[in-house]
Amino acid sequence: MIDTQIPIHEKYGGVVPEIASRNHIEAISRVYKKALKDASVEINDITAITPTYGPGLVGALLVGLSYAKAISFANNIPLVGVNHIEGHIAANYLTYKELEPPFLCVMMSGGNTQIIEVKDYTEFKVLGKTRDDAIGEAFDKVARVVGLGYPGGPKVDKLAQEGIANIELPKTHFTGETLDFSFSGIKTAVINLHHKNPEVNKADLCASFEKNVTDTLMEHVEKAIKITEIKKISLAGGVSANSYIRKAFKELEEKNIKIYMPDLKLCTDNAAMIASAGYYNYINGKRDGLELNATPNLKIN
Ligand code: KG4
Repeated sequence: MIDTQIPIHEKYGGVVPEIASRNHIEAISRVYKKALKDASVEINDITAITPTYGPGLVGALLVGLSYAKAISFANNIPLVGVNHIEGHIAANYLTYKELEPPFLCVMMSGGNTQIIEVKDYTEFKVLGKTRDDAIGEAFDKVARVVGLGYPGGPKVDKLAQEGIANIELPKTHFTGETLDFSFSGIKTAVINLHHKNPEVNKADLCASFEKNVTDTLMEHVEKAIKITEIKKISLAGGVSANSYIRKAFKELEEKNIKIYMPDLKLCTDNAAMIASAGYYNYINGKRDGLELNATPNLKIN
């Protein structure tokens, strides 16, 4: 089961942190009990409690982490904190039982855009990251400005399929060898174009925006393959549900690159991926105490 707050935040055009935390408090006990029931297990059958403690919105993180600490303490079950990004990467192991590190992971969500070298199950190196807006943030802002609503990514994806990528938009490149991204320029260019000329076909605008960010993404991924000589690429995070991006990655298979794309329901935030990362941390010996705190800017390794 996945409990979602999307309908609650839809009318505000984005996630309102305070409302998110309050709704987590209302949902968590119900979700916990239902998850145990659906899995036909009792709390004493559980080996480890593996909450995520960052990165993310501090209020929302604190609800899950405090609840997890209480279950861990009351039942004497080990507590293993999980980095949310590691969770997205570990979603791949749920879909592909045969997948083993090393591989490259392209992490694309509402808060992060990173190319990560997965050296081992709990060992990572960030090769490139966004210097401003995350890719999902750019999708969401473009959607909001052209009037598609929240969450924007899936709506841009759908409308872009009816359009033609015939509008030229700028790309940001950094000098030197960096694999870092910047998506604020393209986002602002789309917003300015729409404001200056609201008559521009929205489907064509969405298709052009999607093609532009995908081209940038693929240029960086090809560079990362060249640098590391790793030919296994996995996708992670909500934006990896995007149909145009998935198609672009699929085309890399013609160049002998193996592509791993998690099931769509495992791409967006879910607890199964956190449990998957928790499992690898647990067998690697990680244990946390009750002093574990929510860390909004938690980095990977
Ligand atoms: O990983 P995620 O569920 O949450 C975090 O950010 O942690 O990612 C959410 C992001 C949102 O920006 C949403 O608009 C985007 O993923 N997204 C998509 C699609 N589905 C979700 N972006 C583009 N195309 C999609 N089909």
